[in-house]
Order: sequence, then structure tokens, then C-alpha cells
Amino acid sequence: MPRFLRRLFSDKGTTHAKKETSSVPCHLAIIMDGNGRWAAQRKLPRTAGHQAGIVALRRTIKHANEMGISILTVYAFSTENWKRPKPEVDFLLRLPNEFLKSDLDNLHKKNIKVMMIGFMEGLPRHTRNAVSEAVEITAKNTGMVLNFALNYGSRDEIIAAVRAITQKVADGEVNPAQIDEQIISSHLFTAALPDPDLLIRPSGEIRLSNFLLWQLAYTELWFTEVNWPDFDREHLEEAISAYRNRDRRFGGIKL
Ligand code: IPE
Ligand code: IPE
Ligand code: MG
Repeated sequence: MPRFLRRLFSDKGTTHAKKETSSVPCHLAIIMDGNGRWAAQRKLPRTAGHQAGIVALRRTIKHANEMGISILTVYAFSTENWKRPKPEVDFLLRLPNEFLKSDLDNLHKKNIKVMMIGFMEGLPRHTRNAVSEAVEITAKNTGMVLNFALNYGSRDEIIAAVRAITQKVADGEVNPAQIDEQIISSHLFTAALPDPDLLIRPSGEIRLSNFLLWQLAYTELWFTEVNWPDFDREHLEEAISAYRNRDRRFGGIKL
């Protein structure tokens, strides 16, 4: 585990995040969904919904950081979103540049560390450059991790991990009997991160849409009807309050 993360998760953690109550999720994941429906309800183009989604992202980052969440992972573009009309895909893949252009300085000032999970090589160059720059500039920050899932798909992630592990088996570096959860986890994009504690999906859809299928094995799930552009502090608080009341047994029993 990299040093910044060891610091973040050690019992003696010194970061702002760790000093807060332990009843907020350490790792919160959000499927930012419902932008198109938000726009349609207002007779606006879908792109207006995506633009409003950026505003919701900005305030959610602020609130999550204030609440002491250590890692915020946001699903911004899936491997299946390439099926959308090209103008919408192009628009969506310009948003990371746009967002980082306006917000990177502030994120950096707040000691936020930007990360990305997903197939970087499949993204247009301008998206890759913007994300790489943000990752580089904030690499040494020790506050909240802001992790963008971009061109991310869980099945392809698992396929890539299987290929890498079987190559190591073929090369004689790994014995099949050694393959365990830890080896698989360490070959996923999320290798450096603990599994999410809480997943939020707005917009009323009750599905995972190929998001973190391995990592969500014991994550608490919370769904809301509100569309992502309307997602505000009260919804985040509601989700966290529900999370606090969950009894996480991980298959065991309370004695
Ligand atoms: C989420 O909103 C944004 C992305 C998937 C990139 P949608 O665009 O999926 O909005 P709906 O689901 O059509 O309302
Ligand atoms: C999931 O939302 C992907 C993102 C939010 C980035 P979708 O809108 O693409 O998912 P489906 O099509 O409703 O399953
Ligand atoms: Mg959607």
C-alpha cells in the first residue's frame, strides 16, 4: 500500500479525514446518474443535465470532504457509455477537462488527491492529459482521495486481471494454488484502495451498471429517486445516516 494511503488508514492517522467520526464511510462510491432525465423534465438538452451534474459533483466533493470521508469514487463514464450518440460521448469526455480546469487549484488547496480508475488508453488525448495532470499535481496530497471512474467497466477490469494473473502463471511467477482474494484485488484498478463502505445511486435505478462488481461484495447500498443534478447535502446526510444504522455483519453473527 502506498505511503499516503498507509497514513490515511493507520490507527494513528493524522489526516483531517481520520480525525472525524468513524461512523462516516471511509470509502464512498457514487453512480452519478439521472442527468438526462433531469434535463428532459426541464425540456433542456441532455448536455444541460451533464453540465448541472458537474455542479452537483462540485458540492458533493465539498460536503464529503467536510464530513470526513477519506475516499470518494465517482462513476463518470462507463465502458458501455460509448454506445451513446457521438456528440453526447464527445461532450461527456470533455467534462473532466472542463471540471479540472476550473476546480483543480481549489482541490489542490484542499489537499485532495485525484486518482482515476478505468481504461485510460481508450480515452481521447485531451481527457487523458487533463486527468494525468491532475493526478500528478495532487500526487503528494494527504487529504481526501477523489477517484474518477472514467471509461471504467467492472467486467473488463476483471478480464484484464485474469489475463495478467494467468500470464504470471504461464511465466512460472505464480502458482495457481496461490491465487486468492488478495492477488485478484491487487490486479484491479482499485488495488491501492479499500473496498467501498457505501454506494449511492441516485435517479431511481436499482442496478450496478457494471460498477465495481468485485469491490462491492460487502458494500452497503443506498438508492434514491432524486436525479444526480439535484443531489445535495441533505441527500448525502440521509444516505450516511442510513449507513450508520446498518448492521454490517460480513456473514458473521452478533454474539
Ligand atoms: C449520468 O446521467 C451520466 C452518465 C451516464 C455519463 P445519464 O446521462 O445516464 O442520465 P439518464 O440516466 O439518461 O437520466
Ligand atoms: C451508469 O449509468 C454509468 C454512469 C453513471 C457513468 P448509465 O445511465 O450508463 O447506466 P444504465 O444504462 O442506466 O444501466
Ligand atoms: Mg443513466
